[in-house]
This record gives sequence, C-alpha cells and structure tokens, in this order.
Amino acid sequence: MTVFSATVHAATRVPAVRRLVTAAAGRGLVERFVAGESTDSALAAVRTLAADGRLATLDHLGEHVTDPARVAATVRAYLDLLAGVGDLPAEVSVKLSALGPRPFDAAAEICAAADRAGTTVTVDMEDSSTVDDTLAVVGRLREEFPRVGAVVQAALHRTEADCRALAGSRVRLVKGAYAEPAAIAHQHPSEVRAAYARCLDILMAGSGHPMIGTHDPRLIQRALGYGRAADTFELQMLYGVRVDEQRRLAAAGHRMRVYVPYGADWYAYFARRLAERPANLGFLLRSLVKG
Ligand code: FDA
Repeated sequence: MTVFSATVHAATRVPAVRRLVTAAAGRGLVERFVAGESTDSALAAVRTLAADGRLATLDHLGEHVTDPARVAATVRAYLDLLAGVGDLPAEVSVKLSALGPRPFDAAAEICAAADRAGTTVTVDMEDSSTVDDTLAVVGRLREEFPRVGAVVQAALHRTEADCRALAGSRVRLVKGAYAEPAAIAHQHPSEVRAAYARCLDILMAGSGHPMIGTHDPRLIQRALGYGRAADTFELQMLYGVRVDEQRRLAAAGHRMRVYVPYGADWYAYFARRLAERPANLGFLLRSLVKG
C-alpha cells in the first residue's frame, strides 16, 4: 500500500469528503466504473461486453450491511439478476458483508439461484479480518455448489499458503484493495507484484481454474507464459479499467471476464478505485473544480 493509497483510503472515510465525492458523481467518473443502478443497466452492460467476446461477473454493490431488510433486498436483487441472465456469459460476485452477520444462508440462496441459471458465484474477499471466515463459508458452500469461487489477495503474507490449499478449485487471485498493516501484508508495490507472481506459479501449476484478476501488464504476460489451455483459466479486469486491453485479449482468444459492479451503494467501491490510481483522483478533482 503506497502513501498515496493509504491517504486516499483514510480521506474517503471523512463524511465531508464523502458528500463532495457524491456531489461530483453525476459528472461521469462514477459511470466509468459502475454499470448504473438497476438490474437492466447491469444486464445491458453485459450485453455490450458479450458483443466483443468478453465475459462478465456481476456484483450488486453493498457491504457492511446488518439490517435484515437490506440483506433480504440484496438477495432479491441477485435473484432478479440471475433470473434475467439467460444465455448471457455472466456469473455473479458477492461480498459476504452485504449479507449480514451470518451470511451463509443468504449466500447459499444466491448460489442455488446461480446454479438454476446455469452459472456460479465467486465470493469476494474483503479486509484481512474477514479472510478466515470467508474461506470457511466458501468451503461450506462448495459442499453443495463445487464451482463456487474464492478470492485471495496476494498482498497478504498468508496467501501463498492459501493458494496451495485452494489450487485445485476456482480461485480469483487479486493484489488486494484494502489498507493493511505491515505485520500481515506486503506494503511496497514491487513486493506485492512479486508475491502475486509466486501465487500465480502455485495456482497455474494446480488442477483448478485460476482467475487472474489484475490489470498489471507484467503479470498478465506471466500468466500467458505458462502454456495452459485457454479454457482452463481466465483473465479478469474491472469494468472501465484498461478497456482496450480487455478487448485485445478477448480478440486474441483468451477468456477475458470483466467484473461489473452496479447498484446505488457505489461509494466504498468507487473510493477503492480512487485510492488505486492518482489519475482517477485527478479526474474527480477536475470535475469538482469545474462545478
Ligand atoms: P495495479 O494497481 O498495479 O495496476 C496496474 C495498471 O492497471 C495500472 O498502472 C493502471 O494502468 C491500471 N489500473 C489499475 N487500477 C486502475 C484503476 N482503478 N483505474 C484505472 N486504471 C487502473 N480486491 C480485493 O481486495 N478483493 C476482491 O474481492 C477483489 N476483486 C477483484 C476482482 C477483479 C476481477 C479484479 C480485476 C480486481 C479485484 N480486486 C479485489 C481489486 C484488486 O485487489 C486491485 O486493487 C486492483 O485490481 C488493482 O490492482 P492491479 O493488479 O490491477 O495492479
């Protein structure tokens, strides 16, 4: 985690900053990263991706939800979405913290709906305090739905061991989007990249289905160098990030899946995208200044 990222992470939690960012949101930058607020807008985005051969994973935005009514609304949103997916090449991604303090039953309901729709679920990974519980829920879900995907964050020191344990299954490898202390996570971008490469070596040597979630050109190049058959792994990127590269990789015959977030609760997701890249913050500040 760079000083820039840590500072932006901290600033975006300040209520006044949240109000300013939300005010600027109508002006285009949020729309670059978030596919609208409704099921229809999310499915329209998937159709656009599918037109040039890109696959999708749809995320109904929301996290840290405790109110049972909001949990029920989130489950309903996923069921609606999955009812509309039809033949589109889409799976869904779910954050367990959107499903309340005991998320298993709600997650299992979403997995069952995905199964009926002929697709599957990948369970996102949130901050480091949630890793054990999240992997335990994924393990239980897999007893009934073996295709459920896990996410692991290369930045965490523990993750090489997690990769060894999970290498026979569907695993999405990402760098990690949360500010974590040095005692448990690599801090410098070059250390995170090196850790990612080691995790990639483990997953690509395994019998599972690695999902390589990164925009980093060197890591994508490395992933393509293992010589695995194109249908045994996926490259994955975020909606609105390196779109030309997404198209190029799909056109070259690689499985290229795009993470498509949608919904009204976009702030925390958007704040993480700002913290990743100074240029994104620059766009936002310019739109605020233009008023
Ligand atoms: P890095 O940040 O080094 O970026 C490499 C290059 O990509 C940059 O130089 C730039 O060109 C481009 N780029 C990257 N981010 C950009 C941005 N926001 N805007 C514009 N350009 C950008 N994290 C997590 O903790 N839990 C999770 O469950 C997930 N899930 C997830 C799914 C998928 C499909 C992806 C691709 C990513 C995630 N992440 C995640 C986020 C991940 O941890 C990480 O924060 C981002 O992918 C950025 O890291 P990169 O590997 O892309 O490298």
